[in-house]
Amino acid sequence: MAKERLDKIIASQSMITRSEAGKLIKSGQVKADGLTVKDKAFKADPSETVIEVSGKVLSYKKHIYIMMNKPVGIVSASRDPKEKTVVDLVPEELKRPGLFPAGRLDKDTTGFVLITDDGEFAHNILSPSKHINKTYLAATRGRIDEKYLKAIREGMTAGSEVFMPASIEPYNNTQNSEYKYIYKIILHEGRYHQIKRMISASEQVLLSLKRIAMGSLSLDENLKEGSCREITPEEFKMITEKNGESF
Ligand code: URA
Repeated sequence: MAKERLDKIIASQSMITRSEAGKLIKSGQVKADGLTVKDKAFKADPSETVIEVSGKVLSYKKHIYIMMNKPVGIVSASRDPKEKTVVDLVPEELKRPGLFPAGRLDKDTTGFVLITDDGEFAHNILSPSKHINKTYLAATRGRIDEKYLKAIREGMTAGSEVFMPASIEPYNNTQNSEYKYIYKIILHEGRYHQIKRMISASEQVLLSLKRIAMGSLSLDENLKEGSCREITPEEFKMITEKNGESF
């Protein structure tokens, strides 16, 4: 990796601004390979140099990938003048500049949101041509008629739009007895309010919607609503994986 200024490296990995990083460096709180550096213009290769800030080793990552279990009532955005966003829920230790949700869930939808600062990766997983599966559980008021299940599987027309064929199966609900009719739906594209529109075109009422997987990576069941964690490199590969292959 190319060498970068120390203040820039520190500011890219946390919510410490460049000028704050400069002050930390000046005050002798930053070490590079065990030696205190007081010059903020000092350059280092963060993949090779051990950088310590206030006694804590900076574990340098070019990009970060965070799995969040989004609660109801939170908007899928980086910031919003009125509403709380998924990025607002990211804890301080995972925060850094440029975080955004790679793909939106509606305010009233729960489940798996991927938060990252990697624009290229987000573009890839959202591109319809990449066909990254997104798996949802949708609870409906009543049973969806067989003719609509067939239409969804074949590519449903809703108003003037034709959706790509999606998979839909009744979901055997063993844990959650709150809802009687639950369907597992796998989309290969992410159109605005897609499941809401599919369910309403099927003459049903959607009671709740949760995203449970992206690609072959399932939402961690131990993640409480509103919490998040970094994903592992193995999990990262699973997002783009289809039939054992990644793009
Ligand atoms: N489809 C919807 O209607 N809403 C979502 O949040 C995701 C898929």
